[in-house]
Amino acid sequence: MNIRRGVVEDAAVLADLARTTFYDAFAASNDPTDMAVHLQRAYGVSQQAGELQDPGIATLLVEKDGKAIAYAQIRDHHIPDCVKGPAPIELWRFYVDRGWHGQGIAQALMDGVKSEARRRGARTLWLGVWEHNARARAFYAKSGFADVGEHIFLFGSDPQTDRVMTTML
Ligand SMILES: CC(C)(COP(=O)(O)OP(=O)(O)OC[C@H]1O[C@@H](n2cnc3c(N)ncnc32)[C@H](O)[C@@H]1OP(=O)(O)O)[C@@H](O)C(=O)NCCC(=O)NCCS
Repeated sequence: MNIRRGVVEDAAVLADLARTTFYDAFAASNDPTDMAVHLQRAYGVSQQAGELQDPGIATLLVEKDGKAIAYAQIRDHHIPDCVKGPAPIELWRFYVDRGWHGQGIAQALMDGVKSEARRRGARTLWLGVWEHNARARAFYAKSGFADVGEHIFLFGSDPQTDRVMTTML
């Protein structure tokens, strides 16, 4: 397994992985129209190329035998009021291909995320996770994150409640 920073040449691979992992995680528990709207808005070669070239976003890609199997993105962005720690940065997206869940990929990627966040001068890592995403919430708790509040995430036309979690770096 290899973890590296994404570059613009990874846009097509990242778009495909990001779209697939999001769909696999949330299609069964959400309205198909909201899912279609969100996929169209968020994922595509031009969207991910823009993110890979944005200096305010860092993308980490995990590869196994040359195939991308997980990714994470951190970004400088709006900070919810409930995030009180110093020098915060957002863990924006964190996704492992479903064939690789429960095999330690997520822990290795989280270690990489924390190193990258520290390298960028952050001291607090925060994230929003859907209140009904029990597996991710359990994973973040075992990775040292604590629940500090909530914010609203607009999924298509559906305003959903995300738990906000933070950890010190
Ligand atoms: C969230 C994610 C990155 C975690 O990676 P993972 O490899 O599945 O994580 P782990 O298996 O190490 O840890 C998950 C924990 O949740 C537990 N768990 C599994 N299903 C659960 C459930 N339905 N409810 C509560 N806990 C659950 C597991 O037992 C494990 O805890 P343990 O190690 O103490 O046994 C991965 O599941 C994923 O990519 N999910 C889809 C995308 C996603 O939801 N991303 C987060 C968006 S905010």
